[in-house]
Amino acid sequence: MSDPAPPLPSKKLYIETVGCQMNVLDSELVVSQLRSEGYELTDDPGQADTILYNTCSVRQHAEDKIYSALGRIKHLKRGRPDVSIGVLGCMAQKDQKQILHRAPHVDVVAGPGQLGRVSELLEAAKREGRPQLAVSLARNAGKTLEVLDSFPTFDPDRGPAEPTPRGATPFQAFVRIQMGCDKFCTYCIVPSVRGPEQGRPPGLIVEEARRLVGQGVREITLLGQTVNSYKYNHGDGRTSRLSDLLAALHDLDGLLRLKFVTNFPLDMTDDLLQAVRDLPKASRYLHVPAQSGCDAVLKRMKRLYTVDQYDEMMARIRETVPGVAVSSDFIVGFCGETEESFGKSVELVRRSRFKNSFIFKYSPRAGTKADDRFDDDVPEEVKRRRNGLLLAEQTAICREDNLPFVGRAVEVLVEGPSKAAGRQGESDGPGGVTQMTGRTTCDRIVVFTGNRRQAGHLLPVVVEDVSAVTLFGRVLTTESAPSPGPEAALS
Ligand code: SAH
Ligand code: SF4
Ligand code: F3S
Repeated sequence: MSDPAPPLPSKKLYIETVGCQMNVLDSELVVSQLRSEGYELTDDPGQADTILYNTCSVRQHAEDKIYSALGRIKHLKRGRPDVSIGVLGCMAQKDQKQILHRAPHVDVVAGPGQLGRVSELLEAAKREGRPQLAVSLARNAGKTLEVLDSFPTFDPDRGPAEPTPRGATPFQAFVRIQMGCDKFCTYCIVPSVRGPEQGRPPGLIVEEARRLVGQGVREITLLGQTVNSYKYNHGDGRTSRLSDLLAALHDLDGLLRLKFVTNFPLDMTDDLLQAVRDLPKASRYLHVPAQSGCDAVLKRMKRLYTVDQYDEMMARIRETVPGVAVSSDFIVGFCGETEESFGKSVELVRRSRFKNSFIFKYSPRAGTKADDRFDDDVPEEVKRRRNGLLLAEQTAICREDNLPFVGRAVEVLVEGPSKAAGRQGESDGPGGVTQMTGRTTCDRIVVFTGNRRQAGHLLPVVVEDVSAVTLFGRVLTTESAPSPGPEAALS
């Protein structure tokens, strides 16, 4: 028998992630790659030999956060010059060499298309004693295929059956189905930093999902910047759409719930809505950002639809998928947004009755069309006021629309102990009783008294109280079931 391989030297990795779910997934994949090479995670940068920041450029604030973290870490590096520092992701692609000018203590700068090379880059930086820069081609820097090739896929098979941390809980996983974006909304940096839209082959997606379900994952969220524009051309005349993917994934035994984000309004086709209606594992929840309720603003944003078209889509969604929850994103204070045009966003929120909305103050991004062509002419305090007003409008709707849930039974996919209950369970009551949390199929958060063994299972819960963001309930047992009737229908 041959001797067992000597254990790999342990290296400690600290990673901080900002930005969207794509980044959360990217960080997870980077961690899983580095773990397979002997790195161990630490949550203390002071203990780490390698410190990585996975960055976002969508708004100035996200960049400021990372540049100030890099400023703080400078002192650590001065005391411990062996520590490797890496800046990954969207800001790495956008700022490239500028990062090294502003923060010369950085060892690796790697764009979102280069994440498969992080460990090689870290080693090269050490070996050569100088920083390594790895970025993809700019959108106009080559032929379409060359640009595409410079954003190679970074969705490996996530290794053998070894479980890796993969998001909020061991029962939930993100799976990328699409990279990049081709919409070019005028305010948005994403198409330039994430590259051209590419759909992953359905076979690979299903295989990845099958492996995750085999490792205990019960809920999969499919990711794409415009996830419902997903198309994969098999090259033999067949095309797979998102609805086809959902149907294929639905067949996986053990999978309990399927979600997908983010949707683009114009691509909300009937086949997709029917799939959400007909597939019981599909979450009855659609995130379809409107961005504005004013045609003139939508036009300047180059969102490609009118408010009427958005309204028509909402009507079709509600008609096709009863009980569905829709959420949205809005930008307030975009160039040229008057009080009147802002008022139209308020009206859109009122009549659409979104489950929730994410509201952002416009932040000009260098290199985007809006920044080149329009004045950022809405003062910061006006942006702030509009943000507050729109949020208040949305919050009132959240509360009103949660109220009818009181007395109803909902089916909850249990995620784990609530934040208040903590991870460790020291505060659990007799028999392991503790506060648990999960979500309904329409993505509403439910908090109830239960125990940790329920995590990863579907449970009926009767709602007893609500706030704007949470339903509070108790687990429905056969003895405590309310008399059947429309109110008791599982939602
Ligand atoms: N692909 C998704 C999400 C893109 S980024 C989509 O198309 O909806 C997430 C959100 O950030 C966007 O929906 C938009 O509301 C906001 N956003 C993007 N660029 C922004 C900018 N320059 N300033 C403020 N908010 C922005
Ligand atoms: Fe940005 Fe628009 Fe693409 Fe969304 S659809 S990522 S907002 S360009
Ligand atoms: Fe930010 Fe990049 Fe996501 S810019 S929002 S991390 S795609």
